[in-house]
Formats: sequence, C-alpha cells, structure tokens
Amino acid sequence: MDSIETLIETWDGEEVVVAFDNATGSWIFICIHSTVLGPAGGGTRMKVYPTPAEGLADAMRLAAGMTTKMAVAGVAFGGAKAVLAVPELPEGDVRRRLLHRYADVIATLKGTFLTGPDMNTSSADMDTISERCSHIFSRSEERGGSGNPGPFTARGVYHGIRASAARAFGSADLKGRTVLVQGVGSVGAPLAELLAADGAKLVLTDVDGERARTLADQLGADTVAANDAVETDCDVYAPCALGGTLNAATIPRLQARVVAGSANNQLAEPADASRLRAVGVLYAPDYVINAGGVIYAVGREALEWDEDRIEAALAGIGETLTRIYERADEAGRTTLAAADELAAARLSSAR
Ligand code: PHE
Repeated sequence: MDSIETLIETWDGEEVVVAFDNATGSWIFICIHSTVLGPAGGGTRMKVYPTPAEGLADAMRLAAGMTTKMAVAGVAFGGAKAVLAVPELPEGDVRRRLLHRYADVIATLKGTFLTGPDMNTSSADMDTISERCSHIFSRSEERGGSGNPGPFTARGVYHGIRASAARAFGSADLKGRTVLVQGVGSVGAPLAELLAADGAKLVLTDVDGERARTLADQLGADTVAANDAVETDCDVYAPCALGGTLNAATIPRLQARVVAGSANNQLAEPADASRLRAVGVLYAPDYVINAGGVIYAVGREALEWDEDRIEAALAGIGETLTRIYERADEAGRTTLAAADELAAARLSSAR
C-alpha cells in the first residue's frame, strides 16, 4: 500500500482535504475528483480500515467513480467522495461529535463539495451534519430532505438487471431466473423485493447471516453463506455490498452469466473487465447501474425533477446499459471500456 503522501502526489483528482479528529481517533478524507461538470457530489462512507492510507485510497477510487457516474447519468455535477476512517463505528454522542467536526470541514469548502449517505451512513447522519453546514443531500423528509435514496438505487439496478437479462438471455422477463443478491442492506433488500415481485428465484447472502435469513423467510428465498456467494449457481450475480468481489481469483469461479449490482468499485482492477469478457460474463459497469440514488437525491433536491422525470431517469439506466452493450460488441471491447468512453465524451464536451 502506498503512503498517504504518495497517494496524494500521484492522484489524478483535483483536491484532497485531510483532517484528524483527535477525540475519536478518526481520519476525515474528502476527495474532490472533478468539478468539470459542476460542483462535486459524493457520499460519505464510514468504515474501519486496516490503515488510514487504505481509507484514503478507497475515497480516491470512489470519488473517480462518482465523476463517471454523474457524467453517464447526465446529472450536471462533478465527482467526489468522503471517507471517515474510524477505529470502530461510533454511536450516540460520539458519532454526533464526529459528524459535527466533519461538517465544519465541509463548510470550509463553500459548496464545492456536496455529500449524501453511503456505506454505514444514513439520512439521520445527514440531518446531524446539516446542523452545522449546508450542501447535504438525502436528509430525512422531516428535515426537508428527500430521505433514504436506497430504494431508488435499487429501482435503477432493477431496470439494469432487466436490460442485462434481455441482452444475455434474449428476454428481460425475470420470472424463473435465479438472482443472487449479495448484501441485503439499504439497497440489496429493496432490490430483492422488486425481483421477488417479478417472480425471480432469489438467493440472498449477507455478512450478517441473520439479516439474510429474515428477509429470505419473508420473500420465500434461499440463503447462502457469505463466503460461498461467488460460486453459487445463478443466472445473475448482484453484488450490493463491498467492492472488489470480482478479481483474478473469483472470476474463474463465477457461475452467473450476468453481473449486475449496486456495489461501488466491483472490480478489483480494470483488467477484471477483460477477464469477465473472456469468460463470457456480461458485466453492467457499476457506476452506470448504481446511479439511481444520486439521480433521485440530486433530481429531487437540486434539479426540481418530479416523480415522472425521476422514474424516466431510473428507467434510462436500463436504456443506457443497452447502448453500452451494443457499443461494446461493435467495438469488440469490454462493457467497462464502452462506459468509460461515454463518460469521457461527456466530460470532454463540457471542457
Ligand atoms: N452513495 C451514493 C453513491 O455512491 C452517494 C450519494 C447518495 C450521493 C445520495 C449524493 C446523494 O452513488
């Protein structure tokens, strides 16, 4: 792992802001990757990392993903991400104080950076942050925000899975298709409900086995142990939790024909897109299929989109993927390369 100095010196983004919260022993990293399309938006991830440098590296990769996500979604915002690298997930007053300290750092950026929820942060946390600064998406509805974006991310992924099934199996109909949902949190759980309503056969898994079993009982689904996810027999693998589950070791063991889920940074490295293509797996680029939460939050709170406009944009995720799949086939390239090309074109025309 590179040092924090090397990571910052070699990053291709615009700005890194670093603070340390002594009271909780937490590192605060705000990485602004690009403001070419507008002020930079991106979630706030709270997580325990082996070292602070790993938290910074995660924030940097996620921030770059936000730039391409916004560009492909056609939302006039740039890309950023924040990581709160904590020694343990804080609760109660300790959590509040850390979020206020973080809010004071956001305030110094004067609107260049806007944030929303991500892994281990919620609308309630956005409410807390907004007590000390503006520029916060996805506050609770009581506080005037648009609430939890998770169900809308799930809706976008659902449209993306249907478009991917149409490409891989010749029909968007999910009835009888087996879908493995890995991670049944704020996106995976509502996604599983949408898929179940369409008659898909579901296999659920979560690091919290109890959580997977409870939802599986409700939906009449099966469960598998978290470690067996990749090898589970299914038509569609939907990673909806941690990134990096697709790598040189796991790709040869995949049983699915389609990978289409909400996790950010699903590929451990860009070369994994070629590995997936080589084994005939259709990969829905993560930043394309998981844009629904941002489309909803930014659409409602910054662009004044109504429900119909938002639903059209969520369905548009499926249409964009279809175009990306066609383009990849024509060019004999990976679906990731075709998506990157689309993002690059939008960014260069804005420059
Ligand atoms: N977690 C969201 C994502 O990765 C980030 C986000 C949500 C940003 C809501 C703004 C508003 O796309």
